[in-house]
Order: sequence, then structure tokens, then C-alpha cells
Amino acid sequence: MGYKFRDEVKNLLTRNGREYHDEEYYFKILENLRGTVNGWGGWSTLRDRYFLADFLQLVNLEFALSGIKTPKITEIGVFRGGTSLMFLTIIENAVLHAIDNWSAGPFEDYKTLKHAFLHDMSCFLDRVIFHDGDSQEIGKTWKEEINLLYIDGCHDYEAAKADIENFVPHVTQGGFILIDDFWMDGVKKAIDETDIMKFDIIKKPSDEKDGNGTTLEKLLVLRKRGGK
Ligand SMILES: C[S@@+](CC[C@H](N)C(=O)[O-])C[C@H]1O[C@@H](n2cnc3c(N)ncnc32)[C@H](O)[C@@H]1O
Repeated sequence: MGYKFRDEVKNLLTRNGREYHDEEYYFKILENLRGTVNGWGGWSTLRDRYFLADFLQLVNLEFALSGIKTPKITEIGVFRGGTSLMFLTIIENAVLHAIDNWSAGPFEDYKTLKHAFLHDMSCFLDRVIFHDGDSQEIGKTWKEEINLLYIDGCHDYEAAKADIENFVPHVTQGGFILIDDFWMDGVKKAIDETDIMKFDIIKKPSDEKDGNGTTLEKLLVLRKRGGK
């Protein structure tokens, strides 16, 4: 699915008179933006990142064509900004609501995980709105509209379910819902119980593993059409 999708993105970009770049292009940008940090610093699998590099280009176009001038992204669990950086690099003029309790730390050379995020994301901080704390608490009073929701915080069943229940209703019609770690028991159970699979399924991760038994894909991508 990911690879067929890449052709669709390419066609769309060509049709819209924009140059198509392959993932190597984005990886170069991302490496440069990361400055002194080696590697990705995130948790998504390589295959999911390839998918995201393509998919987010399509989402960027989709937002532009729909007249969404300032796309609103909410990311639950930003860690040190691996995926946040991708969102803000590829989706033009987007604003990122970053939710994290920054529970990890001290982290490498940084006092806290948040300091690592602030460093790695320094060139994008004017487009980040911080919501520090437990997503289950923050979700109870959430009011912001969401064009793209990325759920990747606590993967326990109760937390995953609360994140879905609290934030998905704020995703606009036609908006996107991305959930990482689809194969984890708690996340899978929460997904099964919350009925979100009624939305358009853009990508359901395969359960394929590499030779070491590591899962190659764990990202579920939905589009909110119909339903609540
Ligand atoms: C898997 S990492 C996120 C990775 C990031 N999205 C990426 O791909 O680069 C999970 C993050 O969720 C945060 N987290 C865990 N439980 C949380 C909770 N209950 N509320 C808010 N953030 C939480 C952790 O501090 C951590 O930064």
C-alpha cells in the first residue's frame, strides 16, 4: 500500500506543478535540521517513516487544496520531536499542539526530555504550542480543532482509550487520525472498543516482521469521514 501510495503522491505533486522529492531528500533535510543529533531520535519504524514522508506530502496538498491555511496538528507523545519535526517540515504553515508529560529524564546530555525536544526543534518553536502534563487529564478539557491527530503517548489500554475518546471528536471532517503502536495489546484493545475503524482506513499496518522478529509496521492511518 505504501509504495502504490508513493506514485499517487508523485502524480498529485506533478499535477500541481510542484517538484517531487523522494525520501532521501527528506532524510537529508531532517538530518541537517537535527544538527548535532545522530539518527532519528524517534520511535517509528523505518518503513513507517518512509510512508509518512510520502503521506504527509499528500496531506500537505490536501490541506492547501481545501483552503486550510494553518493546519492544526495535535501530537500526543512527542518525545524528542522525531515525528514532530516531520510534521512541521512537510506540512506548510502547520501549528503543532505538543502534548507530553516529559516523564523520561535526565535524558542523554539534557536535564530533561523537554530540553532535548527544545534543542532538536529549535528552528520550529514558533509553531509549537506546549501542553505539558498527562494526556488523559489534558484531554478532558480539550477544545482545539484538530486537522491531523497523532496518538503516540502512553500505550496502556486505559490511556490509549482515553486519548482516542477525548481527542478524536475534535478531529475535523476530512481530518486525519494516526495511531502508532497498533500491535500493542493495550492499543489494539482500545482501538477495537472505540469503534474508530468505522472511519476510512488509509493504512492498516501489516504484521510482517524482520529476521530478528521486529515489527516492520505499526502505524494505523485513518481519515475521518462520516460518523461523529
Ligand atoms: C513513543 S514516545 C513518542 C515518540 C514520538 N511521537 C516520535 O515518534 O518521535 C512516547 C511519548 O509519550 C510521552 N508520554 C507517555 N505517557 C504519557 C502521558 N500519560 N501523557 C502525556 N505524555 C505521555 C512520553 O514522555 C514520550 O515522550
